[in-house]
Amino acid sequence: MVREILIWPDPILKQKALPVDKVDDGVRRLLDDMSETMYAADGVGLAAPQIGVLKRCIVIDASPRQEGQKLIHLVNPRIVRAEGETVYTEGCLSIPGEAEDVDRFAKVWVRALDYSGKEFEVEAEELLAIALQHENDHLEGTVFVDHLSSLKRELIRRRMKKLKAEHASETPAEVKKAAQHQSAL
Ligand code: NI
Repeated sequence: MVREILIWPDPILKQKALPVDKVDDGVRRLLDDMSETMYAADGVGLAAPQIGVLKRCIVIDASPRQEGQKLIHLVNPRIVRAEGETVYTEGCLSIPGEAEDVDRFAKVWVRALDYSGKEFEVEAEELLAIALQHENDHLEGTVFVDHLSSLKRELIRRRMKKLKAEHASETPAEVKKAAQHQSAL
């Protein structure tokens, strides 16, 4: 089921998500809803708090933007190692139409539980590494604009408030048609 994506600023997007005890059918349903919602919005990644669920769940699909990628589910992800530096122009499904350069690690190693509850480790570079850091931020109550100068952040906050006011009278289907950045995470 496609769920509604919260638009920043929203108090839920500032909260820390809680660890998942067990990957059961309820968690798998949440992961399915998240990937459906991500694909419907043409996003690269989505974290559960973005649909109002404060659980440590992430979905990412960096294909076709990055070669050899497919949909991955991460429950209780942890960045266990990071190295190098890069700057990437990021967008966010919760901040439609905005994109800014963010400083990130170039390479990360993340350990998580998969769709069946089994632990795995992913070694990531390029867009996948960016998406993992961006979605992990969401689980900590942080969005990419928190990495920007306060001036830039306040300008974006103003535009988002205007956007929300404009969309208040629209149906969710109309809101979904809004233009997205090519790497909305
Ligand atoms: Ni995001």
